[in-house]
Amino acid sequence: MVRWDAETLWQAIEPRLPGFTVEIVPEIDSTNTELMRRARAGRLEPVLLVAERQTAGRGRLGRSWHSGAGGEPAAGGRRPEGPASLTFSLGLPLAPASWSGLSLAIGVALAESLHPDVRIKWPNDLWWQDRKLAGVLVETAAAPGLSGDQRQAVIGVGINILPPDAAGLSTPAAWLQELSPSLDAPAALGRVAPALVAMVQTFKAGGFAPLRARFQARDALAGRTVVLSDGTQGVAQGVGEDGALLVHTSRAMMQITSAEVSVRPQAGS
Ligand code: BTN
Repeated sequence: MVRWDAETLWQAIEPRLPGFTVEIVPEIDSTNTELMRRARAGRLEPVLLVAERQTAGRGRLGRSWHSGAGGEPAAGGRRPEGPASLTFSLGLPLAPASWSGLSLAIGVALAESLHPDVRIKWPNDLWWQDRKLAGVLVETAAAPGLSGDQRQAVIGVGINILPPDAAGLSTPAAWLQELSPSLDAPAALGRVAPALVAMVQTFKAGGFAPLRARFQARDALAGRTVVLSDGTQGVAQGVGEDGALLVHTSRAMMQITSAEVSVRPQAGS
């Protein structure tokens, strides 16, 4: 049985987010899918939905998010306790002046709350030693009951706690217990969820520009040769004030804003 401390989490977050609730479920298709369903049905109260297991976890660019099966048995044959990955979504109504850079701001909050050596791979993966530790999927929905410029934001986070199943992964995986052996899924949630909520509110008030230096301090691509999904190559030069990735190619300084573009460091760079 997994020991989540929902009460402590709620106490840490509710003062910032009146009406906030924490829900922990043993299994669901996808925490993002569920909160998008709720949004479309007009259920807009701020919520942190945590799932011990997802049967249809989703990633960016139409990919799947696979959680591990609970970790490899250790040498003595004992399987580590707790979920092999931490999977949750935060849902809340939001109306920032601009949405650009939100996923980068979320990456900053997660990386800073996890470990000094965690890097952010534009636009919203967390990497450790060039391996993927975590992914973020931000979705928004128009919904009945929202006012003015508000949309319902659904911020989904998946963090490997133990080694995930390697099959089908496009990037080699890292897992949190490599960096911080004492952090299991509930302890990791206790660190990242309050930081995430605080960051969403910072972003709402001031956008991405004041957070840019914090992103750049953890930028996994800076100064490296990268390849875009259309084959274009260039050197990553950080991000602009709106969070666009700046890539210096032989022809121009490109500003990559589309989350549909995939960017990879060139092997050996
Ligand atoms: C990515 O790596 O492309 C993003 C992965 C996001 C996974 C999380 S797990 C919790 C939430 N529910 C989902 O179905 N996806 C996100």
